[in-house]
Amino acid sequence: MSFNTFGHLFRVTTFGESHGPALGCVVDGCPPRIPLEAADIQERLDRRRPGQSRFTTQRREPDAVKILSGVFADPQSGAQVTTGTPIALLIENTDQRSKDYAEIRDAYRPGHADYTYDAKYGLRDYRGGGRSSARETAARVAAGAIARKVVPGLVVRAALIQVGRLRIDRARWDWAEIDRNPLFCPDATAAEAFAAHLDEVRKAGSSVGAVVEVVAEGVPVGLGAPVYGKLDADLAAALMGINAVKGVEIGAGFEAAALSGEENADEMRMGNDGAPRFLSNQAGGVLGGISTGQPVVARFAVKPTSSILTPRATVTRFGEETDLLTKGRHDPCVGIRAVPVAEAMVACVIADHYLRHRAQVGDTPAWPFTRPAGSPEQVPLPESKASR
Ligand SMILES: Cc1cc2nc3c(=O)[nH]c(=O)nc-3n(C[C@H](O)[C@H](O)[C@H](O)COP(=O)(O)O)c2cc1C
Repeated sequence: MSFNTFGHLFRVTTFGESHGPALGCVVDGCPPRIPLEAADIQERLDRRRPGQSRFTTQRREPDAVKILSGVFADPQSGAQVTTGTPIALLIENTDQRSKDYAEIRDAYRPGHADYTYDAKYGLRDYRGGGRSSARETAARVAAGAIARKVVPGLVVRAALIQVGRLRIDRARWDWAEIDRNPLFCPDATAAEAFAAHLDEVRKAGSSVGAVVEVVAEGVPVGLGAPVYGKLDADLAAALMGINAVKGVEIGAGFEAAALSGEENADEMRMGNDGAPRFLSNQAGGVLGGISTGQPVVARFAVKPTSSILTPRATVTRFGEETDLLTKGRHDPCVGIRAVPVAEAMVACVIADHYLRHRAQVGDTPAWPFTRPAGSPEQVPLPESKASR
């Protein structure tokens, strides 16, 4: 009965709670001889760290990572590399304030996992939500930093594209922008509008939802396996597994329902590099559960932060009705800090599928194939409309 592990060959197990002494993960199955320093992981954790702007929780956690196992000096270069054995990573909790949570020991916070944990297990760690807290996502980000190194040329980036009803203008998308504003927003103008809106929301003690988009480039063709190991299905599960996520879509996603077949099916031509060139990417880089070599694009919606400063109707674990106002330190919009978490989850899924593909298929067959002697050539339609 283990539900704290994901991945088949690149296998991540996380442990720890919001207010325990530490949290972390064990990454098993990482190939050997990959250069890995704590600084590589720290860099990623620093992007997720709380308390970095007025838009995220003021809990102060250094999120300093220690590599406990799975690395050693390379005999040739002397650089620290992975050994192929389990890599254990530890992040200590230093800024727990359990007193913030004394009032909710018996009362369930609406929108949180309090009732479901209690009803299922008969007890719950009420300090900051225990295991259900998004503190756990620090361990995922740490694992993701390793996953990125497994797939050569892989670049996974995510961005905040919607806050409440405000959306970015995709024509202004600039990846460089995500490191220039504290919201990971790729549109500088929208970032200002988002910030102004978030200030209002924060001052009102309320919260707002968001949409995050993740793009993975450098994903080779062939990752993902029909029918129960589809890349898009595993991505959806991984992203849905992030706290507060209520919807996931791949490529055109829910918009695909409103498109015609002509608009939706990505046409193909031959590229100059000998690989097919897709004329669009409504599929989000996945066909039949297998990567096409196009960027893999996923999007997800997060719900508004449940902890707000307005009293809400609830019940206690003893069946009494009460009202609850959730004090403590909270993100007014969890979509911001979900951005690095999203990148990590996608990197882990792709690394896992990369290793699975290599294990089953070895090298992807050389494409295009040679036409067998005597096989008739393809005759183009006389009046093909697909003439781009
Ligand atoms: C990065 C991140 C930070 C979060 N911070 C908060 C928070 O400060 N306050 C809160 O009420 N929920 C926060 N959440 C959401 C809760 O963890 C989540 O809603 C809760 O555990 C219930 O789980 P569910 O929404 O997935 O059903 C955060 C989520 C993420 C991804």
